[in-house]
Amino acid sequence: MTKMWAGRTDGKTDKLADDFNSSIHFDCRMFREDIRGSMAHAAMLAKQGIITAEEAEKITEGLGIILEELESGALAFDPDSEDIHMFVEQILTQKIGDAGKKLHTARSRNDQVALDLRMYLKNEIDGISSQIVNLLEILCNKAEEYQKTIMPGYTHLQRAQPITFGHHLMAYGMMLLRDLDRLQGCRRRTNVSPIGSCALAGTTYDTDRRYEAKLLGFDSPCLNSLDGVSDRDFALELLSDLSILMMHLSRFCEEIILWCSWEFRFVELSDSYTTGSSIMPQKKNPDMAELIRGKTGRVYGDLMALLTTLKGLPLAYNKDMQEDKESVFDACDTVKMCLDVFSGMLSGLKANPKAMLKAAQGGFINATDLADYLVGRGLPFRSAYKISGQIVAYCIENGKVLENLTLEEYQSHSELFDEEVYRFIDLERCVEKRISEGGTSFESVAEQIRVVRGSLMGGIEK
Ligand code: ARG
Repeated sequence: MTKMWAGRTDGKTDKLADDFNSSIHFDCRMFREDIRGSMAHAAMLAKQGIITAEEAEKITEGLGIILEELESGALAFDPDSEDIHMFVEQILTQKIGDAGKKLHTARSRNDQVALDLRMYLKNEIDGISSQIVNLLEILCNKAEEYQKTIMPGYTHLQRAQPITFGHHLMAYGMMLLRDLDRLQGCRRRTNVSPIGSCALAGTTYDTDRRYEAKLLGFDSPCLNSLDGVSDRDFALELLSDLSILMMHLSRFCEEIILWCSWEFRFVELSDSYTTGSSIMPQKKNPDMAELIRGKTGRVYGDLMALLTTLKGLPLAYNKDMQEDKESVFDACDTVKMCLDVFSGMLSGLKANPKAMLKAAQGGFINATDLADYLVGRGLPFRSAYKISGQIVAYCIENGKVLENLTLEEYQSHSELFDEEVYRFIDLERCVEKRISEGGTSFESVAEQIRVVRGSLMGGIEK
């Protein structure tokens, strides 16, 4: 096929080179953005008197028909077109004749592709953000349901101090809230229009970049045309934000997988979000959680791929940059799927408060409170810590726990002990007393839920 850019060369290329060069099989998903962008471009050209109003009208009408036909499937993407931009222009010219040939005045595919990608990703950011909002609502409801469910909190995967399941869940609430905030920041920086940068140097035509940017819902045009066509920070930023989001989901999944094991039995997933084994009849596997954990690696890979593609590129546009789209599309597709599945899985998750309490009772997780008791009786913390440690060692040696030591046994370690100690190491009380801001007390967790819900009600800033 002879190329639209035939001129300097005869435009006849080897089939192998064509296929290698072509991006239509993946950039075709930006057809709506490409067409909307072209409509705005025609409107700007007409407003500036660069093309006539009639020409602009013909172009807009033709583009409208192409959009409809692509949506309905009446028009198929031509795999022989180099990319979506060439394809749309070709079909337009076939449909409306010479006016179609004027559309590409005062622009280049270099600024056009940057524009399309920014528009496409703004939309993806909005979709992903509302999925996160939805997940946060589910999370807050769960946290509320389990606000008073006591479980062991861990450090080094060793039982550390008692907390509530609601508190643990709300830790993820805070992470997701930050993810949401990061995406909004990324959206703001994506919302800058490169169109009108042209190939790299701007143009001699009397264009109105601000007008065109505004028509397309951008905050402003970019301020340097070289930067406009070579900047992919917005895609990298999105990939980083999505990587962090996946890291959060992956940690959460890892815990769910652990909690589902018979060693823990802290939670049970609904049958609809688990799988069986083809050989072991007793199995109920948390495959969804494992897959989300697995797909996290894939999103990190997308980030690394694009960072590496861009690292050595001289200004301005280089064809290497065509590689940006598959990475960022794959990451968005993966994240959207994972968020949906994760939300469904979390909705059906049921805690097992008995198993959680049992695990909390056996592991001396109230030893810090025992030390605090002695501090309340006048001992410096370091000395109280030492005595409590000795009592724990005594318990382990004698197969006991703090709750069932006799008062005499306590008093043999310090005469500061009296009956009051039993109330002091009661797990529920240990939790309730942690009233510091952000702590595990019932009231503090209720406040955390309020704050997260409050920020969701504010809506997503656009
Ligand atoms: N398909 C190209 C891409 O995705 C569009 C820009 C091509 N520009 C060029 N001068 N070859 O990057």
